[in-house]
Formats: sequence, structure tokens, C-alpha cells
Amino acid sequence: MSKIILKTPQNLESMRQGGKILANVFDKVEISTRVGMNAFALDRLIFNEITALGAKPSFLGYRGYEHSSCISKNEEVVHGIPHESKVFYPGDIVSVDIGVFYQGFHVDAARTFMLEPVDSEVMTLVNVTRESFFKGIEFAIPGNRLGDISYAIQKHVEEAGFSIVRDLYSHGVGAQLHEEPLIPNYGKRGQGVTLKEGMTFAIEPMVNIGAFDILTLQDKWTIIAADRKWSAHYENTIFIGKDGPEILTLN
Ligand code: MF3
Ligand code: CO
Repeated sequence: MSKIILKTPQNLESMRQGGKILANVFDKVEISTRVGMNAFALDRLIFNEITALGAKPSFLGYRGYEHSSCISKNEEVVHGIPHESKVFYPGDIVSVDIGVFYQGFHVDAARTFMLEPVDSEVMTLVNVTRESFFKGIEFAIPGNRLGDISYAIQKHVEEAGFSIVRDLYSHGVGAQLHEEPLIPNYGKRGQGVTLKEGMTFAIEPMVNIGAFDILTLQDKWTIIAADRKWSAHYENTIFIGKDGPEILTLN
């Protein structure tokens, strides 16, 4: 039996407002993600922006996590810790993952920023990762199946010659940061849960230049590509509306 929690119009309104806050935080983050900046300072800026807008950072305190964002560079896939020693250099890609809790609901989003001059294959990686999200959510329509989204993401990534990470998932989001369903970013059309109006998902493809295998560092958080080739991440929280998806975390 599925425990997917459908959101009411009132719930949706709260998530829309949280999403707007998160999109505004990302506008500041984009401006601040520059050569010479470091991840700790960026995380502090993120905390300050979220709290100034009357919201709370979803990640702070989550399973003992002590920061407001995950900041993952280059071969780091996700869940990178924002250490001061993580300095941004020319040619780096920096993925920033942020959750915002507002009026009882979480929204979750991530972007990968490029610090010029970025290698052309790496630039393609970042673009394909973002595009795969949009390819996937074209199928986020009531009556379609979860596998339709997964398949479209995987197809776009693999046609570009990259690998979709398999051991980490997109997920439902709402009163809890992680709700049902778990959404693989790869899969088969016509399989999985049938989509219904009112579902809210955090769709977050993680894409590796090399193989899809990942491993966790000794800090128990940072996940890297096992072959140390670079990786990108893109995520938005979406609402499944009557006629299709509404992206809640984009301005
Ligand atoms: N956005 C991440 C995810 O959906 C959550 C980061 S884990 C945290 O997996 F501990 F940093 F919050
Ligand atoms: Co997420």
C-alpha cells in the first residue's frame, strides 16, 4: 500500500511560498559562487538568507547534519560538507543543494555552477544534467507512471554518453524532507506508481561523466564518483497539477 501524501491547495500554497524563498536564495548563491569563495562562507550566507526570509534550513539537524547546504565540487556527487578548506578555483563545478522549511513544508533544490574556464565536456555534463530534469518532468502528468519520468531522465543522460547515478534517488517531499515514493532516476516506461494530482516530488538527477558507481568518504557524508571523474546535480521540487507539473523552486 502506498503512503504517498497528496497535498491540498492550502499545502500547495505553503510550498509555493517556500519554493519562492528557495529560488530567491539561489539567486544570491549564484552571485556568490565565485573564484576565491569557499563552501563554509557560502553555507553561512545560505543560512543567513533563509532565516532572513522567515524560513528554516531543512538540512540543519537532519540526521545530525550541522550545515544549511550540501556543497559538492567536481568528483563529489552530492552531500559534500561545506568546509572552509573547500575553496572555489577556476575550472571547478560547484553543486549546491538546499532545503527550505516554511509553514510546515519542505522544498528541496540543487544547482551546479561552473567557474570559468570549464572543460567543454564538463560544460556538456552540467547542461545535460539540467536538461534531463526537464525531459523527465514532461511526463509528470496525472495518469502517467513514475517510470515514465525515470526513463526519460536516463535516456537523455545516456544518449549524451554520461551515466545516471543509480544508488541515490529522487523522492517525494512535503511535511517530511523525504517522503514516498522513492524515484529512481533510471527505469522503464509504464512501470511504477501512477501519478496523481497533488503529489509533490523532488526530482534530482545526479550524472557522472564516467561510470555510475559511487562511494561514501570516511566523513560518512560526502559521496564521490568511484572513478573520480566529475559529476553534476540538478534538482527542483515539483507539484503534479491537473494538466502537468508546476516547478515550485524556480523564479
Ligand atoms: N537534498 C538531499 C537529499 O534529498 C538531502 C541532503 S541530506 C542532509 O538527499 F543531511 F544534508 F540534509
Ligand atoms: Co532531494
